[in-house]
Amino acid sequence: MARNKIVIANWKMNLTGKEALDWLKRFDLEQTKVEVAICPSFTTMAQIYDRLPDILALGAQNCYYQPQGAYTGEISLAMLQELGVKYLLIGHSERRSIFGESDELINSKVQAATAAGIIPVLCVGETLTEREGAQWQERLESQLRLGLQNIDSAQCDRLIIAYEPVWAIGTGRTALLADIEEVHKFLRSVLTGMLGGEVASRIRIVYGGSVKPSNSAQLLSSEEIDGLLVGGASLKPDEFKMIVTSNF
Ligand code: PGA
Repeated sequence: MARNKIVIANWKMNLTGKEALDWLKRFDLEQTKVEVAICPSFTTMAQIYDRLPDILALGAQNCYYQPQGAYTGEISLAMLQELGVKYLLIGHSERRSIFGESDELINSKVQAATAAGIIPVLCVGETLTEREGAQWQERLESQLRLGLQNIDSAQCDRLIIAYEPVWAIGTGRTALLADIEEVHKFLRSVLTGMLGGEVASRIRIVYGGSVKPSNSAQLLSSEEIDGLLVGGASLKPDEFKMIVTSNF
């Protein structure tokens, strides 16, 4: 089935509110063939959420799963909803490796986001050792199964999976198209086993890891790749514009 492609910018801990306003001025696109979302920091988000052009949806990079309470430093889904957040990155490899997020915590976030009507973008990816040791399938399957525990197929309709090989993030080293396609097919087959073919065929599987204007057209033209998650190259409005308007 045809799935709408989506390109998501992950700004990470970059771009202050002021810088983001300048970014928006320079990102002056009115139309794209793909859906586009940006994930700014929380304070930046609060400064720009009501100034976004129609073509840009808002995403968040993280949240906590509890509704409110004594969780110093955390942010709730209701706080994100107030700003019109549509997408939520969950389980990004930097959250897993730097902040020690477990599959269990990630699963709690997926459940809470789903219940709140915010679309989870569940990130999975293998390390270089896992890829070279041929353990990537095992690793990715377990991240998917644990991340989606207790989520039933009816709740997965709008779910997005982001495949981001850890060794390709911020390294300038993009995975080969054939390898990405092989992984995406594998992920869809696991999803089919878990949720049934119909639901699995609706889930978008996007790729992230050193996406740039020079490789985005090739990636977006693949039937197996339903979109992109872009870090570094999304910080420059001109480069990001080239990515979302790649001819494919
Ligand atoms: P990158 O980051 O495009 O800078 O490799 C991607 C990501 O971490 O989502």
